Amino acid sequence: MNACIRAVVRTAHHHQLKVTGIYRGFDGMIQGNMLDMGRQDVSNIIQRGGTILKTARSEGFRTPEGRRQAYHQLQKAGIQALVAIGGDGTYRASQVFMEEYPDIRIMGCPGTIDNDLYGTDFTIGYDTAINTAMQAIDKIRDTADATDRLFFVEVMGRDAGLIALRTGLGSGAEAVLIPEIEQDLDRLYDLLERDWKRQKSSMIVVVAEGDEAGGAFAVAEQVRQRFPQYDTRVTVLGHIQRGGSPSCMDRILASRLGAAAVQALVAGMAGYACGVQYKSVVHIPFSEAVKHNVEINPQLVELVEILSA
Ligand code: F6P
Repeated sequence: MNACIRAVVRTAHHHQLKVTGIYRGFDGMIQGNMLDMGRQDVSNIIQRGGTILKTARSEGFRTPEGRRQAYHQLQKAGIQALVAIGGDGTYRASQVFMEEYPDIRIMGCPGTIDNDLYGTDFTIGYDTAINTAMQAIDKIRDTADATDRLFFVEVMGRDAGLIALRTGLGSGAEAVLIPEIEQDLDRLYDLLERDWKRQKSSMIVVVAEGDEAGGAFAVAEQVRQRFPQYDTRVTVLGHIQRGGSPSCMDRILASRLGAAAVQALVAGMAGYACGVQYKSVVHIPFSEAVKHNVEINPQLVELVEILSA
């Protein structure tokens, strides 16, 4: 997020535009919680996790009254355009706001660790999150191996399994359970049966928090009932995945997309989310971005199975 904010501020100044930072997202907009931002205000933040502008889920912005107040605050501050960094909810809210107040032009940047936004190959924060999770699993594997245990590691992602899938592949997990694949628990049972016969007792199963079989604790419980011979443990990685210094890939992605959002506004565009597809920056209408779910790549799912054999 910080790398994106930095890019927005500096690109805007490059185009001789005045920049105002809005604290705590749409809530801050309603309250007029804003501050002018110069080039120096974003110095030394590219390497920092979190966001210097802070973030909040806004109930007020869901109401027409809240959005009217926000609009008045923008008018008072002389703001004509917005760069909204966030996920699906941010895009939906931006779309509604632009329909009601078309004189405020909005461009979006995909800011979520979940990577579940349509129209971009990657979202800002995803690469850092999967690297954090992978490094944690590398450490867990040392204990799994030393003690011959079966570990269930739960990762974030809300309703999406994209964090789990890549983290699982990158950490050499024996199995990955994700909401996009039905009956993956049955497939896990087959694998556990096979591997017990092969005398393989140390294993890592990555569980997406949104898997239909439940989180890691629920899955572990079901497995224990069926395979009491395994010595099982559960680790929930939790918010560790949302913090820390961003990876180089994330910093570059955030810098490119923050700059692209401002450049698009300068060119007269509005109502689009910026993204990357096959290395190039693209612009996707908010209406499209919120309409589609991100598909899981079946080749990656298959690869987890092949490589765990
Ligand atoms: O959408 C990003 C995300 O980190 C999800 O992966 C997770 O389920 C959720 O946010 C956690 O939200 P909160 O910090 O509000 O509990």
